[in-house]
Amino acid sequence: MKMRLDKLLAHYGIGTRKEVKSYIRKGFVTVNNEIIKKDDFKVDYENDIIEFDEQIIHYQPYVYIMMNKPAGFVCATEDNVHKTVIDLIDDYGQYELFPVGRLDLDTEGLLIISNDGDFAHRLLAPSRHHSKLYYARVKGIMTEEDVQSFLSGITIDHYRCLPAHLKILKVQDGYSEVEIEIFEGKFHQVKKMVQKVGKEVVYLKRIKIRNLQLDPQLKLGDYRELSQNELVDLMHDL
Ligand code: URA
Repeated sequence: MKMRLDKLLAHYGIGTRKEVKSYIRKGFVTVNNEIIKKDDFKVDYENDIIEFDEQIIHYQPYVYIMMNKPAGFVCATEDNVHKTVIDLIDDYGQYELFPVGRLDLDTEGLLIISNDGDFAHRLLAPSRHHSKLYYARVKGIMTEEDVQSFLSGITIDHYRCLPAHLKILKVQDGYSEVEIEIFEGKFHQVKKMVQKVGKEVVYLKRIKIRNLQLDPQLKLGDYRELSQNELVDLMHDL
């Protein structure tokens, strides 16, 4: 993929476009071991060796981050009241990151953060029905009847949800632990579906999106880039 040298270096975080142009003119930049003094020189960032001040530049146009979202942070880039999930990210300042999809303020778990709009669009497109798996703690006893209701499609806000999978993991002392897999992303969908069968979600955590599993090593608020394998699997047939 080709792009202008000054744009690439500025995006990488070397400096402003103006500063970068001056570094280029002063001979600080080489491409494939040749000093390049033209700021509009086109580089192929996947194949060319680009060096600034003798340091190799590993340019990545897009980043894909997995976060274990903690409660109390909103899935937005800015908010007047609450801290956002983007506030939890220290580095990557040169990327215009945004959360890919939303989890409620009090929901925890798997959140993808990226700067790739096309990827986000494909992952979130309602017509694609990508799977999302949640773990929930529920006040009330979830039953086989609920499993069947989820499978037939629960109606919330005059909308008949797609069939969803409810798996009962444990029932104890009037509470249930369940996994719920849905294939769309309506507002408060899991909470409303559970409410519809007369129970209440008291804790919600997303654990999987398509084939991407939340890394159990990630503590709440921690994040890491997706591995190459995770990315390839997630992008497959997206
Ligand atoms: N469903 C909900 O009710 N809340 C979430 O955060 C995600 C899915």
